[in-house]
Amino acid sequence: IKKIGVLTSGGDAPGMNAAIRAVVRAGSYYDLEVTGILRGYEGLIHGDFVPMNYKSVGNIIQRGGTILKTARSKEFRTVEGRKKAHENLIKNGIDALVVIGGDGTFTGANLFSSEFDFPVIGLPGTIDNDLAGTDFTIGYDSAINTVVDAVDKIRDTAESHDRLFIVEVMGRDSGLIALRSGIGVGAESILIPEAKVGVAGLVSRLENGRKDKASKIIIVAEGDEIGGAFNVGEELKEKFPTYDIRVSVLGHIQRGGKPSCMDRVLASRLGVAAVEGLIGGRTRVMAGQVNREIVFTPFSHAIKHIDAEEITPTWLKLVDILSM
Ligand code: F6P
Repeated sequence: IKKIGVLTSGGDAPGMNAAIRAVVRAGSYYDLEVTGILRGYEGLIHGDFVPMNYKSVGNIIQRGGTILKTARSKEFRTVEGRKKAHENLIKNGIDALVVIGGDGTFTGANLFSSEFDFPVIGLPGTIDNDLAGTDFTIGYDSAINTVVDAVDKIRDTAESHDRLFIVEVMGRDSGLIALRSGIGVGAESILIPEAKVGVAGLVSRLENGRKDKASKIIIVAEGDEIGGAFNVGEELKEKFPTYDIRVSVLGHIQRGGKPSCMDRVLASRLGVAAVEGLIGGRTRVMAGQVNREIVFTPFSHAIKHIDAEEITPTWLKLVDILSM
């Protein structure tokens, strides 16, 4: 391998820049040329390529977003799109790719890599933490810290006004952001798609909870079956007309901001591992960290959304025990 390409694709996540920096600097270290591809697979299809070297990634480790920009490419889902992408890579003398993103990114990479027998390694860049083959994805730690910061502020108002707040967090169909941040803020209840507590379950929890505690925080994962925080709010207003209820949807603030140190270090470590993996002949795998060790997991397995061991009754029992 002489020349590698690097891109970010799908939703941005804090730490993507640290990952780009690690890939570019590891490339320089191993005497490889590195090309940045703009706007993910869109840039690959349209030939938006920029040469990069160790200097181009200075002063970015602390920045949120992605300097390479990102997109959710519809065209890359078509055979014609992927063909154009391959032609551009060949034209530019690129022999391998590092793609930073989540399950959509890896699904595309897996297909592309097998169709053209082109070496691709993935880095887990998503706030959702919904990939198998890594304990944590790049961006998850920063996102849950953003949630904790925001909900701590909401808690002040909840406490001052004796209110019940329903706070919706991201995660698509995964409850991992809700679960960990919910425990971190001392939530009275957490609703996640994996647990299916439902309206009845939530109502009975509130009925059986302490009567002398008027302020409450309920964290709802956006993918929960009740259908988001506003629906939960409507249901509770009906069941508890005396409660003073407010709803807050945190939205994209969870994707922005500077990465935590944990995310910067994870991204740095995995970025170097990805380049070393490509040099060692690995392809169609994601570089992840499990029990502090670097592991390479086939894309086909990484995208299976295995709901980490976290989504177990033990973790939810924690909430029950602690939310008195
Ligand atoms: O995958 C990251 C994520 O932020 C999810 O948590 C969320 O469901 C989705 O992306 C939102 O995507 P968009 O920014 O395209 O609306």
